Amino acid sequence: MSSSTTADAPLAETDIARLREDFPILHTQVNGHPLVYLDSGATSQRPFAVLDAEREFAATLNAAVHRGAHTLAAEATEVFEDARSTLARFIGAGDDEIVWTSNATEAINLVAYAFSNATVGRGGPAAERFRLGQGDEIVTTEMEHHANLIPWQELAARTGATLRVIPLDDDGALRLDENRITARTKILAVTHVSNVLGVINPVDQLVAAARDVGALVLLDACQSAPHLPLDVRALDVDFAVLSGHKMLGPTGIGALYGRRELLEAMPPFLTGGSMITTVTTTQAEYLPPPQRFEAGTQRVSQAVALAAAIDYLSEVGMPRIAAHEAALGQRLVDGLTAIDGVRVLGVGIDLPRVGLASFDIPGIHSHDVGQFLDDRGIAVRVGHHCAQPLHRRLGVTASTRASTYLYSTEAEVDAFLDGVAATIDFFGVRS
Ligand SMILES: Cc1ncc(COP(=O)(O)O)c(C=O)c1O
Repeated sequence: MSSSTTADAPLAETDIARLREDFPILHTQVNGHPLVYLDSGATSQRPFAVLDAEREFAATLNAAVHRGAHTLAAEATEVFEDARSTLARFIGAGDDEIVWTSNATEAINLVAYAFSNATVGRGGPAAERFRLGQGDEIVTTEMEHHANLIPWQELAARTGATLRVIPLDDDGALRLDENRITARTKILAVTHVSNVLGVINPVDQLVAAARDVGALVLLDACQSAPHLPLDVRALDVDFAVLSGHKMLGPTGIGALYGRRELLEAMPPFLTGGSMITTVTTTQAEYLPPPQRFEAGTQRVSQAVALAAAIDYLSEVGMPRIAAHEAALGQRLVDGLTAIDGVRVLGVGIDLPRVGLASFDIPGIHSHDVGQFLDDRGIAVRVGHHCAQPLHRRLGVTASTRASTYLYSTEAEVDAFLDGVAATIDFFGVRS
């Protein structure tokens, strides 16, 4: 994308029209209507630059990395490591603090299994900090995506530690007065942005509470890294996870950020080829991070394409993307609130938001809402969005979610709002 506007000017309609040309799928017709894609929170669409980068790698450089002595292998290794540096710069990390994973879910499991492996004695004295037992506590929240909840439930079950959950208030906001962090807390795992409510959590307060008791902090940045400028050092977190497919990249690639000294002390999760120095039939010595955590043949074309996605986002400018999406998010919330019969989840929470809102229409199942909108070419997410505890707390089993990205327009949000009003008229459930 080339833009005539300055780096911090808001994205103008003409900028968005121009960048939409880079996304072939946005010109698709669905059910006889132009596609209105409002499901970027689930997975984002990819510009030509990303599609081309993956194809170009496969067509010209394809080879396994960190293994072969031939020229292609060396070049593939170089672009793979360059991609790591690109992601590291994007989130304020060092190159050796980025571990490639297949997605955020695997990244969270990697950390949880490092704790578990340390608990059974792996990693030696250096891994002491990761050992858990009865009396130790893991803290997470009632707002989490299942990916940042179930691995901790499993870790608690394997180690005898206790899982404590920061509750939500009636609006759905984190109860910071009930932060559950005590001298027994070993790790706090919390989402930066809710994938259901779209609110940006005040994680600095929780990080400070964790720091006070010497607990580690894992930040689920799945819904923040794509939409906001992110600096893991400024946030002072120990770990952060993200998924490439939510930030214009391909599926099959995600990452774990881990503070260098922690990665150095952590035992591995997956083991096998490419993560060792010497192996005998009875034991193995491991490479330093990040390779220690990257067992097996790596997802090179996906990493290269993710780097192209990050270059694209950086060229548009993350502050501009964040401002554009905050405005669309407000338009979504205001528009939905104004429709009689709609309950917007988390509407009472006084926090900044990204471009994402979920709602319930009492009397209509979210699957019917989704189907009705789909007939108009409008793609949204329906169901519990992998956040059953949050939905239960708010007294609903499911909701409909609209989520935007840099390529979303006001006209799309308005078409969606018209569609929601028409759904209510069709089902005759106006209050
Ligand atoms: C907040 C949050 N955390 C974790 C995940 C899991 O991401 P993935 O399925 O790409 O591993 C998601 C995906 O929807 C998410 O929104």
